[in-house]
Amino acid sequence: MKSLSTALAQRHQQGLYRQRRVMHGQSSVHMQLAGQPVINFCSNDYLGLASDPRLIAALADGARRYGVGSGASHLVTGHHAIHDALEQALAEFTGRPRALLFSTGYMANLGVITTLAGRHDRIFSDRLNHASLLDGARLSGATMQRYPHHDMAALHTLLAEPSTAQTLVVSDGVFSMDGDIAPLPQLMQLAHDSGSWLIIDDAHGFGVLGAHGGGTFEHCSQPHSDNVAVIGTFGKAFGTSGAFVAGSDALIETLIQNARSYIYTTALSPALAHATLVSLGIVRDEDWRRQQLRSLIERFRRGAAQLGLTLGESTTPIQPLIIGDNARCVAASERLLAAGLLISAIRPPTVPHGTARLRITLSAAHREVDIDRLLDALSGL
Ligand SMILES: Cc1ncc(COP(=O)(O)O)c(C=O)c1O
Repeated sequence: MKSLSTALAQRHQQGLYRQRRVMHGQSSVHMQLAGQPVINFCSNDYLGLASDPRLIAALADGARRYGVGSGASHLVTGHHAIHDALEQALAEFTGRPRALLFSTGYMANLGVITTLAGRHDRIFSDRLNHASLLDGARLSGATMQRYPHHDMAALHTLLAEPSTAQTLVVSDGVFSMDGDIAPLPQLMQLAHDSGSWLIIDDAHGFGVLGAHGGGTFEHCSQPHSDNVAVIGTFGKAFGTSGAFVAGSDALIETLIQNARSYIYTTALSPALAHATLVSLGIVRDEDWRRQQLRSLIERFRRGAAQLGLTLGESTTPIQPLIIGDNARCVAASERLLAAGLLISAIRPPTVPHGTARLRITLSAAHREVDIDRLLDALSGL
């Protein structure tokens, strides 16, 4: 038997040890950590909704009306009318015929990919895709090839190889660790021309991009197409938790019949579905939150450029500062924490080797003074 403590010690030495932080207070940009106030620059609560009083009230109201737990899986007795209502609202929001709820984005990605691809099929995946897309591809047993990040010529070459297999092209909409946006029009064209499925995980795009928060598709003005499955999660801009897949009627019915991560698990809490329905209305209608976010992003990028800091090519709230070395990245994160700023050091295998980074994320709930404090602290790194 391999020694677990030796492996853990090795992890420490490589600067790869992960530790949980115990946070206190409501989830927001101003929190308490070990009794000290901190400004949170690493959550995915991009619109500042996780502790919005309207969502808190909706969750309590939902629990009173429907109970806390769903009691069973969707295919037994766990599928409540409120789930149905949220699915219909999501279909309308995304401009797709239908939507299907999953308990988490991780499970939605596993479900879609393993349903659409099997052992004899092919999956072409952007090299920087989220781990859940990678795991879905592995679990499907299909042959997976990763094309270089955003490289549409490389994808075109892969798609041109003759094959009778079902083919899936898989990409993040907004890349979770880099914040850049997938070249959606080209992906749509390539998938269409090659008769492939296109799977877009827009966990970080929904709520943030587009005048109504419709994500990467709204941002790129791309309409619905039957060969596309789009995944959204509620744990980010929506401020709750859970996920959905949107697409054609046939796709959703096929997922209900086959997706094991949909079938063999307890349905999302109906109270949470109720709160998410309220959140969806806020996401769609309160564009001022996106405008506030954009203005904070611009302020941060302007200030960082003045300091000579090189950020990634990102116009979204995910603003990575690449440090490279794991230990240096952890040290930088700790120095920032000592200054009252919470920013995670993201290291391999979450990101490629040699690209450890401070994953700075901004929220509409930040104020300009928070951004200025962040810039001030980064200038002293
Ligand atoms: C791009 C992407 N997809 C999927 C997920 C998983 O979503 P969930 O947290 O709902 O499981 C995440 C992060 O959590 C993500 O960043």
